[in-house]
Amino acid sequence: MSSSGPFVRYQNVQKSYDGETLVVKNLNLDIAKGEFVTMLGPSGSGKTTCLMMLAGFETATHGDIMLDGKPINNIPPHKRGIGMVFQNYALFPHMTVNENLAFPLSVRKIGKAETEEKVRRALDMVQMGQFGDRRPGQLSGGQQQRVALARALVFEPELVLMDEPLGALDKQLREHMQYEIKHIHESLGVTVVYVTHDQSEALTMSNRIAVFDDGIIQQLADPVTLYEKPDNSFVAQFIGENNKLNGTVGAISKGVTTVDLGAHGKIKATAVNVSKGDKTTLSMRPERIQFSSKKPAASKPSLPAKVLELIYLGDHIRCRMDVAGNEEFIVKVPNSSLSSDLKPGVKGHVSWNTEDCRALDFAG
Ligand SMILES: Nc1ncnc2c1ncn2[C@@H]1O[C@H](COP(=O)(O)OP(=O)(O)OP(=O)(O)O)[C@@H](O)[C@H]1O
Ligand SMILES: [Mg+2]
Repeated sequence: MSSSGPFVRYQNVQKSYDGETLVVKNLNLDIAKGEFVTMLGPSGSGKTTCLMMLAGFETATHGDIMLDGKPINNIPPHKRGIGMVFQNYALFPHMTVNENLAFPLSVRKIGKAETEEKVRRALDMVQMGQFGDRRPGQLSGGQQQRVALARALVFEPELVLMDEPLGALDKQLREHMQYEIKHIHESLGVTVVYVTHDQSEALTMSNRIAVFDDGIIQQLADPVTLYEKPDNSFVAQFIGENNKLNGTVGAISKGVTTVDLGAHGKIKATAVNVSKGDKTTLSMRPERIQFSSKKPAASKPSLPAKVLELIYLGDHIRCRMDVAGNEEFIVKVPNSSLSSDLKPGVKGHVSWNTEDCRALDFAG
């Protein structure tokens, strides 16, 4: 066993189903033992394909996938020792919950007493201890998904793959299950590769997130870095809410540039993978912007703004403004700091810190 190397390694992996288009383009990804890594991206970006190649249900067209330092290309799925949970990975309907959980153990020739013990522990872990004698048809969707999770974990695999396992559940149950899966991961120390297109799910559970688009990892980072420091406009737009302003990159000094917004003036920003003269899209998070009816200090970047609409959302107020010709510019104002000058029609200024305004690749 290679204790120092990554537990899972995708090395220059490509996949084509039709021999023409690559749906996975030169994927390189290392996952450490015990890590929770999420593949996040829009529909069709190649997430499931990547998971299926690791599971062994699809083969890579090019490149290698290694598990614990060994190539797994030639090991059949059931010999990889991987637990799996999918959105529609049906439980066996004719078997009870206990029998469903015992199945992966009987395949592995585990004795009766040990099987009973492991099944009981796995069901307790997902709080389904009282339901062992029911059939799947007698359980709610959320309960079935818990049983599926217990079945994936019951044989104590070192690696668990989950593909949109919570997709069919309502919002409240989904959020509850996110915490449960996160806690189970933490307490068992099992390595998890998780697939979702739901960014808040990815942010809640993951140690690291690989953001996919069009078969390419756009950025691989921990949740905080991904949200606070997106590398490009796709990631800025896909994770969280984002305000955009287009301009041209000026001189860059120590990572800071002055972006020319044409008729709307010039504004300081953090330069991210752009060069002088490039067209750029500025990215700003709505909660990092302040609105004031007075002009802010000259040391802070600011632009004139006009309030267009207020939307009350309980804990915060979404304020839609016209800023530099963008009428969809959103500022989030916490309910506790709402002032009475904030009304539609009011003119003032929006301001922010230079590090909260990122000059990224031009997004159009
Ligand atoms: N069995 C298949 N045969 C041919 N093309 C496929 C097959 N499975 C997936 N594809 C194509 O490969 C691309 C990637 O699909 P994949 O299922 O990996 O995307 P995904 O990111 O999981 O999307 P979703 O979020 O919708 O599940 C898509 O263009 C899809 O149409
Ligand atoms: Mg998929």
